[in-house]
Amino acid sequence: MFATRVARLRQRLHEEGFTHAALVPGPNLMYFFGLSMHLSERPIVVLVAVEDERPLLIAPSFEVGKVEAATPAFAWRIYSYRDGQPYSTAFHDAAHVLGGAHARIVVEPTRLRALEWSLLTRALPHAELAATEAPFAALRQIKDAHEIALLREAARRADQVLEALLPELRLGLTEKQVARKLLGLILDAESDGMPFAPLVQSGPTAANPHAEAGARVLQCGDLLLLDFGVCVQGYASDITRTVALGEPTAELRAAYEAVKAANAAARAIVKPGLPAEAVDRAAREVIEAAGFGRYFTHRTGHGLGLEGHEAPYIVEGNITPLQPGMVFTIEPGIYLPGKGGVRIEDDVAVTDHGCESLTTSSRELVVLPC
Ligand code: CO
Ligand code: CO
Repeated sequence: MFATRVARLRQRLHEEGFTHAALVPGPNLMYFFGLSMHLSERPIVVLVAVEDERPLLIAPSFEVGKVEAATPAFAWRIYSYRDGQPYSTAFHDAAHVLGGAHARIVVEPTRLRALEWSLLTRALPHAELAATEAPFAALRQIKDAHEIALLREAARRADQVLEALLPELRLGLTEKQVARKLLGLILDAESDGMPFAPLVQSGPTAANPHAEAGARVLQCGDLLLLDFGVCVQGYASDITRTVALGEPTAELRAAYEAVKAANAAARAIVKPGLPAEAVDRAAREVIEAAGFGRYFTHRTGHGLGLEGHEAPYIVEGNITPLQPGMVFTIEPGIYLPGKGGVRIEDDVAVTDHGCESLTTSSRELVVLPC
């Protein structure tokens, strides 16, 4: 499987006019090589060449055995360094086999650090480094059946966590106390770590889409926004539900119904061939028609996979046609300053004729007694 993915990457690089890709520890190394490594002060770079099926590894010498054991499908060219030796020697030695003069190397824009950038550019002064996700995203955004099964399982466990949390919610708890319960339930669901810090936002705090859980005590009349995920073998779900503590004001209730209708409209329109931006527009039109347009302050969604945010982005201007196997969130929201916020987030997989919602928790407003 990994050899096939790397072969596809090499083909893609060739089509886009690149000679190499330089990968650092993170989701691309995981996806293409099955390698789970951490970024540290010791640089690790994998170079994939269009013209050579042997990938090239620059790494600390003590990591080499681990890489070879984890990737039996690959015959590595290895350039290692020991602690105390300059990293630049390994990079210069590696550069000799790259045929430096005409190299056009893709690097990961959100991952490659000044550390690796400076070592690569010093070793390859005539190479062009291009920071773009495009060749990786083109492959990773179409999930195979195994990946979709993992994402479906991650979503199923997120639904279960929500179901277990709701009976625990009550007045008098702080956001932080709710967050602690949520963290415990996510770990009980055997999540591989925490895909992202869960959001627990109550009352006016929820008007800021990414505020952290704080000391605020849950009060009657609050909307409570819960946004979290569960990670299964590297693949994370991402769900948001908003619940009410006691009957909300008419305005908050209207905002909730608009978000619910926007979420439904966006899920209903998804099908292969549709540009990603049309899904955003479908959600936005509903919220605008309800008079809350200026309070829907972010895009409608983002792709899900080995990263919590990845292609395809469900945003105005993204004309990428949807294809079966794409998995992304649909998460319209309305944020009313000083009053509260509503978001309803589902994870959907594009199918041959429409989409499957991987998250299935009820989208009706749950009003908890107070
Ligand atoms: Co979320
Ligand atoms: Co999200």
